[in-house]
Amino acid sequence: MDLKIKIAEEDEELQAASWLRALSFYAYPPERKFAGELHQIMIAEEEFQLLKAQRANRRFEQDKVECNERNACLVAVASANDSLVPPINEKLYIQQGKQETRHVLVGTLDVHAVRALPGESLIGDCTNAAYLANVCSAPCARRRGVGGLLIDAARQLAREWGADGLYVHTMAVNEIAMAFYKNNGFVVEKEETSNQAHYRGRCLDGIEGRGRSVLLRDTNFGGV
Ligand SMILES: CC(C)(COP(=O)(O)OP(=O)(O)OC[C@H]1O[C@@H](n2cnc3c(N)ncnc32)[C@H](O)[C@@H]1OP(=O)(O)O)[C@@H](O)C(=O)NCCC(=O)NCCS
Repeated sequence: MDLKIKIAEEDEELQAASWLRALSFYAYPPERKFAGELHQIMIAEEEFQLLKAQRANRRFEQDKVECNERNACLVAVASANDSLVPPINEKLYIQQGKQETRHVLVGTLDVHAVRALPGESLIGDCTNAAYLANVCSAPCARRRGVGGLLIDAARQLAREWGADGLYVHTMAVNEIAMAFYKNNGFVVEKEETSNQAHYRGRCLDGIEGRGRSVLLRDTNFGGV
């Protein structure tokens, strides 16, 4: 699959990225298809508004010489004509301006970087940390390197921003994500206990505290 990783700037890219998040993080069993689809529409719209606000903030901030916060939504885009691209949800297709060829969005993530004030530590031992969120690839395009390419691009961008570490949170029970991050050089920095998760109200599958989170640090990043 021939992929291009880029910062999403166009509305249609942000919209497709919002849909991919809704499809990836709010999957419902077939017997709840109707409720699931309604919920996904709601989530995708909410996410689209947030991504547009983030873009507006980025455009405003980038004119400043000293910038304390940076963010970008990265997307992995393939040509819809690529024979290696599997049949994919219609919501993930994008036209890419006036080009004839249709494209399809097969992965996305957000990267945020924050510069601490003097004496402040933000995350781990970092004063200038970059943080990943909403990491996902299209269900039918998984295990084909899309996620890995997005991580590489995010790492590169965070370095350009002058960050000194790259972090991500995931849930301990998300074994696929844990294997994926480990494969990309991330190690556990801090792990929440079931009790802590319980008091944060992190109930999963009806089990209190099952949604406990793990903070992972990228050892391939360098820095701290
Ligand atoms: C996690 C996710 C982003 C991985 O994306 P991807 O495009 O499949 O990732 P890659 O193809 O680059 O995978 C690279 C490695 O990750 C690990 N991995 C990925 N999927 C895996 C799976 N189903 N089982 C075990 N290991 C897996 C493997 O080590 C894999 O290398 P290998 O194929 O050589 O064994 C994707 O599964 C996803 O979108 N999941 C749903 C959303 C989610 O949970 N995101 C994480 C939020 S913190």
